[in-house]
Amino acid sequence: MTTKTVAELLSQDITLQDVTVKGWVRTFRANRFIALNDGSTINNIQCVVDFENFDEALLKRITTGAAIHIKGELVESQGKGQSVEIQVKELEVLGDSDAETYPIQPKKHTFEFLRENAHLRTRTNTFSAVMRLRSSLSFAIHKYFNENGFYYMHTPIITGSDAEGAGEMFRVSTLDPKNPPLTEDGDVNYKEDFFGKETNLTVSGQLEAETFAMSLGKVYTFGPTFRAENSNTSRHLAEFWMIEPEVAFMDLAGNMDLAEDFLKSVLGYVLENNKEDLEFLDKRLQDAEKTLPQAERSPMNLLDKIKFVVENNFKRVSYTEAIDILRNSKPNKKKKFKYIIEEWGADLQSEHERYLVEKHFKCPVILFDYPANIKAFYMRLNEDGKTVRAMDILFPGIGEMVGGSQREERLEVLKEKMKALDIPEEELWWYLDLRKYGTAVHSGFGLGFERLVMFATGMGNIRDVIPYPRTPQNAEF
Ligand code: 4AD
Ligand code: MG
Repeated sequence: MTTKTVAELLSQDITLQDVTVKGWVRTFRANRFIALNDGSTINNIQCVVDFENFDEALLKRITTGAAIHIKGELVESQGKGQSVEIQVKELEVLGDSDAETYPIQPKKHTFEFLRENAHLRTRTNTFSAVMRLRSSLSFAIHKYFNENGFYYMHTPIITGSDAEGAGEMFRVSTLDPKNPPLTEDGDVNYKEDFFGKETNLTVSGQLEAETFAMSLGKVYTFGPTFRAENSNTSRHLAEFWMIEPEVAFMDLAGNMDLAEDFLKSVLGYVLENNKEDLEFLDKRLQDAEKTLPQAERSPMNLLDKIKFVVENNFKRVSYTEAIDILRNSKPNKKKKFKYIIEEWGADLQSEHERYLVEKHFKCPVILFDYPANIKAFYMRLNEDGKTVRAMDILFPGIGEMVGGSQREERLEVLKEKMKALDIPEEELWWYLDLRKYGTAVHSGFGLGFERLVMFATGMGNIRDVIPYPRTPQNAEF
């Protein structure tokens, strides 16, 4: 007799003698009904105990959170809400749980409380559903690239270059912080550090991914990414996962097509394969929004929102058009934005991005051709000399989901740009080599995985879609 998962048992349309199942007790009602969950599905299996047949001392140990092993008969359920249940014949407590102190009581807990108990929060319906979706989305991502001829590349976590030029990096060093070796000028002498130079945790695998695109053609990375930006928002993590495809001979229009097709495909995958979890999260979101004033509730429920993205074209809008829309918008004229848009060249804040997707276009938007001086050094300069072939994809409720661009493939133009931004050529000699030996048009983008999980689950805080969030002042677990 093999142990079956709860998901396997619940999908049986026949009744079975002798089933065995292991899991954690969610509730034990009336000394008779155990709701058992093992993480394989959002649903519990009901296990019915005839208390006359069991020791009272044993039944006392069936407490919320306890790990138990049940043998019994799978029968058609007499009760409502489930098709089958287990008539318990044998019952073994594998691990007791102290009911008094177990943090995950069978009641509503706040997400703040559950964050402090992140090691146990995946025993709740909401967090187990979120993590199953996270797993499913990451599978869908690999599946999409695999089926479309991309190679999966592992780019380094420790790097000597600042790909985004934002300088928000975590230093990697084995020097003694109390007594570091110094140069003659009194600076820290990184020549004596582990790698013989200054190194940091990567902010993006893009630059290395470009080297592989320029040899293998179509590649992607999917790995941990680190940013030491001190932004304590519901959309930023210090450690997050980024997906970065990079494709040779593809221009910005191709990049937009790829990103749109990719997002639709992976979201379509979870619509098909994670129905129960999505339905649960949909209901959770509707319940949570009941307490909000009508105007703040989402106009669509979760499933409709995902379907909408899968079924409709994203709107493609140039930065210049977007600035015109924003300049003439009500919140700008009434000075409701924190940052008023006055001139072309202004960087867009999340309030502006959200106005464009949520109020103006009401669908995902791809903004492109941004001013050169608000974007990274590697983006392809347009013929106008002032904009670059950048694209950001903005999603309702999320803001920036994707950032990407066509890359500057012209050696001289790239060198000039680096010079203007004080990026030493010695640091990126290998990146420049790509432009010396067989350079070609190429493009790619970065998708923040947790932002995608937020969208697909309807969770409002990025800390609740990653197992153990790293944020300023917080690296517990
Ligand atoms: O726009 P970003 O900074 O672009 C890059 O890093 C490029 N090198 C990508 C490329 O072209 N290959 O970051 C890409 C995405 C953002 O759109 C956002 O979704 C996510 O990464 N992201 C974050 N997610 C969580 N926490 C943070 N601190 C994030 N910073 C960026
Ligand atoms: Mg960006």
